Amino acid sequence: MTSTKRYTITAALPYTNGPVHIGHLAGVYVPADIYTRYLRLKKQDVIYICGSDEHGVPITLRAKKEGVTPQQIVDKYHTIIKQSFQDFGISFDNYSRTSAQIHHETASDFFKKLYDEGKFLEETSEQLYDADANQFLADRFVVGTCPKCGNEESYGDQCESCGTSHNATDLINPKSAITGNVPSLKKTKHWYLPLDKYESWLREWIVEGHEKDWKPNVLGQVKSWLDDGLRPRAVTRDLDWGIPVPVKGAEGKVLYVWFDAPIGYISSTKEWAAREGKDWEPYWKDKDTNLIHFIGKDNIVFHAIIFPSMLKAEGSYIVPKNVPANEFLNLEGNKISTSKNWAVWLHEYLQDFPDKQDVLRYVLTANAPESKDNDFTWKEFQARNNNELVAIFGNFINRVTVLTHKYYDGVVPEKAKHFKELDQINDFKNSIAKSIESYRFREASQVLMNLARMGNVFLQEQEPWKKIKENPEEVKGIMFVAIQIAAALAHLAQPFLPFTAQKLRNILNIEALNWDEVHLSNTESLVLGGHKINASELLFEKIEDEAIQLQLDKLEATKTQNKQDNKAVEPQKDTVTFDDFVGMDMRIGTILEAEKVAKTKKLLKLKVDVGIDTRTVVSGIAESFSPEDIIGQQVCVLVNLAPRKIRGIESQGMILMTDTKDGKLSFLSPTSKNIKNGEQVS
Ligand code: 2FM
Ligand code: ZN
Repeated sequence: MTSTKRYTITAALPYTNGPVHIGHLAGVYVPADIYTRYLRLKKQDVIYICGSDEHGVPITLRAKKEGVTPQQIVDKYHTIIKQSFQDFGISFDNYSRTSAQIHHETASDFFKKLYDEGKFLEETSEQLYDADANQFLADRFVVGTCPKCGNEESYGDQCESCGTSHNATDLINPKSAITGNVPSLKKTKHWYLPLDKYESWLREWIVEGHEKDWKPNVLGQVKSWLDDGLRPRAVTRDLDWGIPVPVKGAEGKVLYVWFDAPIGYISSTKEWAAREGKDWEPYWKDKDTNLIHFIGKDNIVFHAIIFPSMLKAEGSYIVPKNVPANEFLNLEGNKISTSKNWAVWLHEYLQDFPDKQDVLRYVLTANAPESKDNDFTWKEFQARNNNELVAIFGNFINRVTVLTHKYYDGVVPEKAKHFKELDQINDFKNSIAKSIESYRFREASQVLMNLARMGNVFLQEQEPWKKIKENPEEVKGIMFVAIQIAAALAHLAQPFLPFTAQKLRNILNIEALNWDEVHLSNTESLVLGGHKINASELLFEKIEDEAIQLQLDKLEATKTQNKQDNKAVEPQKDTVTFDDFVGMDMRIGTILEAEKVAKTKKLLKLKVDVGIDTRTVVSGIAESFSPEDIIGQQVCVLVNLAPRKIRGIESQGMILMTDTKDGKLSFLSPTSKNIKNGEQVS
């Protein structure tokens, strides 16, 4: 990267249904920030764009839960989120929000253009409807079993377990997230983007064009969707929170949040350009611009398939050069969850660890979920701080600055000898650059730490403290090199540890350099002899066990609270009539055969003798029973349940089970041995 290139870097717009936590930071915002800061240091023409995602069902649900309006929810969390990003040095060029006027206009115009050009299919079909809530059940308003992987908590538009994006009507056993009701079907008109039409273009562009430079986790998901075949996707919804569909006959309908949100990147760029007196269009329309979307793995389909298809359909936009998606970060062994309060919230972290933004940035980078899900533990946080930032990086800087003051009153000695370590600084720099350019930020952060390690080893080997009496001239040469390493650390740490880099520059009394200026040769140095450094200061401080214990106690309290909340007795279901009850034909049967349904975690395919016949039943019990253990088991079966296809297999009934809160399933079986298959339960 020597010539100037243009980069549009986007980071997924966070939903404003809660504050941001460490998972957000590790997955998206810190890696994108490192990348952007690095490109700025490389003097590239780069903008880093983000904003709040303020439409969509998560916001409406949160508003309902808190008994306030969606607008109040987005105003509250937009402010908290924006502040957290600023506090952690996430250096957006613009942070907008999708409720902004400019965004409503941009998204409406985008839709209108596609509509006018006939790029959508218009279709009236039956959609899930909750009559009690008087509401169509799109997206997160409905949960059910994912038709692909059997996850029973899939949302209407997406399964977070396997990443599949589907239509709400594809869900098995759908339930309203508002009332818990089983939805009915009701006709409604919507506009669909015919993704199938873009399939061969997508394949050529991604699978053939980016096989080498896109991350395997992203390519893997993309290939799997393309292999499954794409279908038209509705881009409008029957909701009252969102951007109104700007065409006649669409009253009461809004744009699907995943249609409007990515356009938010464009409107945020427009907002930035208007403020800075720039032209936004080259950042989105010049084919030489590198458009890079930083996202989490649950967003891959939207950024690699749907948004590019929208951009392609519109015709005047570029498509992304890369979509570096991270996997998920867990917390102390459990999935981070906003609703279960299982998270380290950024604003709370800063209350407990003020001025330790870089510590968290470092730990989250060193342990980033780049190729697989990773776990954040407070013990590791403490260890990385104490053993790496304090004992290696901070210790080296402290030794250098203290000795420089002690021996030379803070004045840098002249270069006396060329040590190999000076050349190695360039190698470290190139290695960090290479890792960042390939989105390997963990590796890059470790190379940076290795440079500090090298500095420590150098001092340890040279032992200036032993030589200062007999050989002060040699010590000058040694200290000159150590100071160059310290300065290199100050410059190369900028993308990763922006606060620390600034503090270190202040201590060393040096100006920031561009990336290419951080270069050492026989004739060049980063800090010249005769330069005076400022007083020594500690860069990092040890984190004691007590501080960590407080965090662990907090999480323990959350666990206890969650347990208590779960103990709450579930409301009794609606009353059924006697006729409803006797209409159910429940019989005793025996499981004759059982096997796992391929590519699912929960499903078993069973052959059950129910007395009147032998039938196939697909049951979500694979996590509680292995097939070989249940053959011969007597069970109770609802035999007149309407047959349904589950993963392509027709299921002809349902096995009755008890389901405890901790997820343990048990069969409802007769205790008497004399009950024959086919006997009725009444
Ligand atoms: O998953 C999320 O949090 C979404 N709000 C991300 C949106 S990214 C973009 F398309 F706006
Ligand atoms: Zn799934």
